[in-house]
Amino acid sequence: MREELQKIKEKALQALEEVEDEEALEAWQVSHMGRNSPLMNVFKTLGDLPEEERPLVGRQANEVKGALQKALEKKEKVLHQTQIRLSLQEERIDVTLPGRPKISGNLHPTTRTLREIYRIFGDMGFQIYRSREVETDEMNFQMLNFPPHHPAREMQDTFFVDGERDRGENPLLLRTHTSPGQIHAMWEYSSTNPADPPPLRIIVPGMCYRYEQISARSEIQFNQVEGLAVGKEITFGDLKGTLSDFARRLFGQGVGTRFRADHFPFTEPSAEMDIECFLCEGEGCTVCKGTGWLEILGCGMVHPTVLENGGYDPERYTGFAFGMGPERITMLRHRIEDIRYFWANDLRFLEQF
Ligand code: PHE
Repeated sequence: MREELQKIKEKALQALEEVEDEEALEAWQVSHMGRNSPLMNVFKTLGDLPEEERPLVGRQANEVKGALQKALEKKEKVLHQTQIRLSLQEERIDVTLPGRPKISGNLHPTTRTLREIYRIFGDMGFQIYRSREVETDEMNFQMLNFPPHHPAREMQDTFFVDGERDRGENPLLLRTHTSPGQIHAMWEYSSTNPADPPPLRIIVPGMCYRYEQISARSEIQFNQVEGLAVGKEITFGDLKGTLSDFARRLFGQGVGTRFRADHFPFTEPSAEMDIECFLCEGEGCTVCKGTGWLEILGCGMVHPTVLENGGYDPERYTGFAFGMGPERITMLRHRIEDIRYFWANDLRFLEQF
């Protein structure tokens, strides 16, 4: 019996050596220390032994049990350690790996230009006035002194709202310029005191639409920023001063400006403002087409009829107005050669700004 116990112990310990995971350990426990294990059978049969052998065998069996228990605990610890080491290895974070870049968006180049325009005119006391994009023919043309069938309308081929094109004198359309905002603003201001309307100084930014062939130079959808100042002693000198100062603040203090006579139905006199080409500094290059000047905006003194349409008595009030294209200005500032990039959603283009 004593030999038997010795064998049981050796066999169990040997088997334990081969245990490599917790599952196997559990199985080992069942077969070597469990109810029907050889060791437990020894305990069960103790009663069959001759009386004098019982205590000896009993003690030895207990010793074996204690040894197995100890070995089991030791193995448990070892397995646990190995497991921790393994999971540390598997889940190791390689802090030397390059991180994943965080992609952040940025402002569209036109938005940047628009914001600079707002800031500059804001500094000069102009307020932003928002006006609708769907207009009537009356606001987009008639109130601005375009008589029906005036040839100037040909310059601005118009998108009409579905079914409106041939609907009488006043069809709905997409505004072709921000100038109808002039009338809306004058109405709003003059209605506060029709007998003696307050002066106003606003810019009207927003989207305009023209039914044109899309090309490198023109899109069917584009921004404009309209400007309007109306008051009691506003002169062409104010117009020139304000717009030249604007050009200097946007393009740099050294930039020269010039005004060329032009024609718009809603201003009289009308002009086109050029700035000195900042790329060649007046020498003449491909961007300014050798002239040394870049056309930046249209402007003029508000036509008396337009003042009157807005509720301002042209005998007592004068004003100047201007309109510029932020996309065109952005193209000049960044030497962008094709206006179609602005709507192409090509990140390679957009991420440059
Ligand atoms: N509305 C004109 C255009 O679209 C620009 C302009 C605005 C000219 C105000 C003079 C005064 O071309």
